[in-house]
Amino acid sequence: MPDDERVLVIIPAAGSGVRFGGDVPKQFLPLGGKPLVQRVVERFLFDAVVTRVVVPVADMLLSAVKTAPGDRVQFVAGGATRLQSVMRGLEAAGVEFDLIAIHDAVRPFFSLDTFHATLDAARTHGAAFPGMPLPDTVHQIADDAISSTPDRSVLVAAQTPQCFRAEVLRDVIERAAREDADATDEAGLAAKYGHRVQLVRGDSMNFKITRPEDLVMAERIYAEWGGESDA
Ligand code: C5P
Repeated sequence: MPDDERVLVIIPAAGSGVRFGGDVPKQFLPLGGKPLVQRVVERFLFDAVVTRVVVPVADMLLSAVKTAPGDRVQFVAGGATRLQSVMRGLEAAGVEFDLIAIHDAVRPFFSLDTFHATLDAARTHGAAFPGMPLPDTVHQIADDAISSTPDRSVLVAAQTPQCFRAEVLRDVIERAAREDADATDEAGLAAKYGHRVQLVRGDSMNFKITRPEDLVMAERIYAEWGGESDA
């Protein structure tokens, strides 16, 4: 990692997370007694390669998450969609970054090794993402029945942190804004706009907490790993 390289991490956390059920957006549910998003922010702040972490959150939460000037973490008002939240994060952070990573607030167990490998690949290729081969066969469905079965060997499940050279992400965001596109996955958007998005081997522990049972599993993992996952 070059010494003078500036790395920005954006963690979009402004969604309502309604699919999880309950009143609290899933990124604010506790893991080992702290909100998931806080666990994720702390893990990035632990990493010396990270210059700044920006967290877009819902307007109503902004007053609850004060930051002081000089802090490496900055909370900003999110937008109406995930992509708009990323855009607001990017605007708030300014232009002085070389590499930008976007990470799901609900993936607390990402590894710094995977993060660094993805940053390295983004520096070389422009954009990169961690992906995992699919353990299950995937079927396309029509009318509640299988219509086709894609070749599993050419499919991967996308994880985060997804990493970009700053000019690549800015191009993607500008084009998406012009087309009013939204996406849950910026790597896919970058590929759609013609950028090479390099695959880096993901990590099975880097799962996304989307269902109540995922959080139960995460608590068990957290209890088992203790301080190790606190890194
Ligand atoms: O709602 P969904 O699960 O697709 O959101 C994906 C991620 O994007 C979540 O972390 C959510 O907090 C974030 N998001 C956001 N701003 C929005 C909508 C979603 O930051 N307006």
